[in-house]
Amino acid sequence: MRIAMIGTGYVGLVSGACFADFGHQVTCVDKDAAKIAALCRGEIPIFEPGLDALVATNVKASRLDFTTDLAGPVAEAEAVFIAVGTPSRRGDGHADLSYVYAAAREIAASIRDFTVVVTKSTVPVGTGDEVERLIGETNPSADVVVASNPEFLREGAAIRDFKFPDRIVIGTSDERGRKVLGDIYRPLSLNQAPLMFTERRTAELIKYAANAFLATKITFINEIADLSEKVGADIQEVARGIGLDNRIGTKFLHAGPGYGGSCFPKDTRALVKIAEDHDAQLRIVESVVTVNDNRKRAMARKVAHALGDNLRNKTIAVLGLAFKPDTDDMREAPSIPLITGLRDMGAKVRAFDPASMKEARRELPDIDYCDDAYSCAEGADALVIVTEWVQFRALDLPRLKRIMKQPIVVDLRNVYRPAELEELGFAYTGIGRSQ
Ligand code: UGA
Repeated sequence: MRIAMIGTGYVGLVSGACFADFGHQVTCVDKDAAKIAALCRGEIPIFEPGLDALVATNVKASRLDFTTDLAGPVAEAEAVFIAVGTPSRRGDGHADLSYVYAAAREIAASIRDFTVVVTKSTVPVGTGDEVERLIGETNPSADVVVASNPEFLREGAAIRDFKFPDRIVIGTSDERGRKVLGDIYRPLSLNQAPLMFTERRTAELIKYAANAFLATKITFINEIADLSEKVGADIQEVARGIGLDNRIGTKFLHAGPGYGGSCFPKDTRALVKIAEDHDAQLRIVESVVTVNDNRKRAMARKVAHALGDNLRNKTIAVLGLAFKPDTDDMREAPSIPLITGLRDMGAKVRAFDPASMKEARRELPDIDYCDDAYSCAEGADALVIVTEWVQFRALDLPRLKRIMKQPIVVDLRNVYRPAELEELGFAYTGIGRSQ
């Protein structure tokens, strides 16, 4: 199969490289000439474990290439995937579809033979209809089927998620479209991954409903964590105790500082807007958005509380800045409102993250950045674990105790057991644990 992937962001690059690895002929297209030049040199613009090797192997095998020219690859392709960004529109929370529509018009102008145009970007229900209309308007003779094929990969685990998905959702009622997409994903169906064929609008809604449900699950357990603190229960055990019920499941029940990233915050807000546009109301999702935003802001107060509610002239060491481990992504990271709040309360902040320091400097230019966890902790009044990178799971605790000014640890990811730290003489605050 010949595939053109429009957009070399997270989804486009990972999907393009994985499709090439299945044996398809893939060209990734992006308007950003500097990015394409870097990709042609073998430089990967995002931090994703395993992606550099996957790209290199497939480029070497001549199954994957990169270009700024959209027309050529689209004319050749049997399937064109639109994987451009759909950021939150400033001001109103709607998804900004201008990149999707611009791509649709450009694709339309270059289509030659029968082509399946597939939206992979997360797009509001009905976007496929508009893409189809725009293509028809720009090139009335184009023989196209427009399908929706949402992506469910997680940053940091993207390649594994792509190659071993729980399901693949293909939204089109057109038989020719189903055949082309079925052929593209055949290697995965051999791995037993269910291919779910459905209508286009249903596929578009599945993506938002999945992310909103996961965000709801996290927000639910975060609120139960707050209650656990008040009633003297341990959220880790509450989560396990409910999660072992198969109807609930143990995943996405890890309490923390609130969800962040490029997907959940944007998609939950957009889903609320989609509902409003259709005279419906999603009260649960609306609450999830508000509760999560408030939670992220409340984390600074939690740290202040661990230091006797006074942060004047205190030095706080922050471990982990990215919104989750194994990524350098700082978008909507809980570390941002946390650090801003700590500074507003008069604290001096030092931070270390294994991957996101460059990104973080843009968001948080006025703090001190350290080379590792120990130089960060040296002389600090408290250590705050914000992102659960593996390297923060086995810190040399006696060493930390020796070098810190005060042995106070605030563990916003429940990486450590309270008793373990307390035995060593630390004052420990976790999430949803009453001690
Ligand atoms: C999320 C979804 O998990 C993917 O299925 C989806 O494809 C993707 O969005 C997307 O729409 O593109 P991602 O944002 O990469 O993936 O990261 P997650 O691993 O889902 O984590 C999101 C946030 O939730 C992080 O801030 C994480 O720390 C938080 N989280 C997650 C918790 O606080 N507790 C949990 O138990 C799980």
